[in-house]
Amino acid sequence: REVCWTLFILVVRAKDGITAEAISREDFPSDFVFGSGSSAYQVEGAAFDDGRTPSIWDTFTHSGKVLDKSNGDISCDQYHKYKEDVKLMVDTGLEAYRFSISWSRLIPNGRGPVNPKGLQYYNSLISELVNQGIQPHVTLLHYDLPQTLEDEYQGWLSQKIVKDFTAYADVCFREFGDRVSHWTTLNEPNVYTLGAYDMGFFPPGRCSSPFGFNCTEGNSTIEPYIATHNMLLSHASVARLYKKKYLAKQNGFIGINIFAFYLVPFTNTTEDMRATRRANDFYIGWFMDPLMFGDYPEIVKKNAGSRIPSFTPSQSRQVQGSADFFGLNHYITQYIQDDPDSLNNEPRDFQGDMAVKLTFRADRIPNGELPFIPSGMQGVLEYVKQTYGNPPIYIHENGQVTSHNASLNDMSRVKYLEGYIQSLLQAVRNGSDVRGYFTWSFLDVFELLSGYKSSFGLFYVDFNSPDLKRFPKLSAYWYSNFLKGRSSSS
Ligand code: NOJ
Repeated sequence: REVCWTLFILVVRAKDGITAEAISREDFPSDFVFGSGSSAYQVEGAAFDDGRTPSIWDTFTHSGKVLDKSNGDISCDQYHKYKEDVKLMVDTGLEAYRFSISWSRLIPNGRGPVNPKGLQYYNSLISELVNQGIQPHVTLLHYDLPQTLEDEYQGWLSQKIVKDFTAYADVCFREFGDRVSHWTTLNEPNVYTLGAYDMGFFPPGRCSSPFGFNCTEGNSTIEPYIATHNMLLSHASVARLYKKKYLAKQNGFIGINIFAFYLVPFTNTTEDMRATRRANDFYIGWFMDPLMFGDYPEIVKKNAGSRIPSFTPSQSRQVQGSADFFGLNHYITQYIQDDPDSLNNEPRDFQGDMAVKLTFRADRIPNGELPFIPSGMQGVLEYVKQTYGNPPIYIHENGQVTSHNASLNDMSRVKYLEGYIQSLLQAVRNGSDVRGYFTWSFLDVFELLSGYKSSFGLFYVDFNSPDLKRFPKLSAYWYSNFLKGRSSSS
């Protein structure tokens, strides 16, 4: 069957006239790790099983906020089908699997006693992966905050979250740290704070932007800055706990994940070039500057003025240097134009402070295809290397969206992955300290804004079949060939 697919790929490639450099996993260092990923709410299902309590995503989807009005109640049901999925990972040749833990499954309501069934599930999944030779790369929180903490003190808007998040992380390190060495505290906090507190498209759906939609509440333009501050303090607190209590025994690494466009000036005018630098400071520097240098970028502080919290000297010391690595989610390149008029927005929110124009939501167009510019992978890695002194990086997410019912012969995704991995290789050869790469996503999971209408998976999931059958797409065979060391273009 494999031979057939290799031949099929070659025929399609010949017809497509692809002439790019042949690449295979062997072109990368042997300790580089290749995998694929998912997140708890998007893949697990079993939303009401075995003591799990709702997260803010359950509340959001159940109030009909997703494009196709769907939810993650059942999704791919990985909760019950994890063994089958790990087998698919082995067959594909994955070296690592990136997934997240559902906080409210492990500790119902976010605080208090551990749920034995939740503990059992993650123990089983992690052991299955490890026994099959696949490294678990675990994210502590991929957006799905326990609803009770939102109700009790407004989640990320309160500094109370620091203590609860640290206590939750303590349980994860204690229970799973013997088998997990790569921990990511938060997924895409830089997108999350904007989606959840500026634009309203993520729960809790609060808006400060005049262009927000789906808004339920909120109107304070300080909220994205407050949430970010509390996320940074939470990350730092968890990293400190790990170093004090677990590092000596477990020898693992604690990182954070950041969404990273590659930003390019729209024109070569000084204004657009400055605007691009500013946009990078707002999107990436907002998190990376405090973690690397101990404070927010000057331009962010200047434009946000009194609306952005200041780090006390002790907070700054705790945050600085608290990430052993950065996970980057890179999908697309965006062009940046200076937009000084937005400084006059009333009220002035994050977007106004940034004062640039970009097609921010281009990657979220349901059923659409991402505009892909593979060289953006090297571009963003060079930017991070030059700006932050070459910290260790994992590409945590990269992949192409297509309509869920598109053909299994997803040649466009094959081209996307091949192009981006080629560009990644250039960056590695040029000295970027990249340690791993994960496609998003392994399966067709519940997609955050569009539900089951669009997909990123290497495996198609038939959501209408009673056993949620998985089918490999052409991209799964392509990635498998790549991973097994067979040159992709020969
Ligand atoms: C970002 C998020 O981390 C993930 O949850 C989402 O499904 C993908 N990127 C695609 O939008």
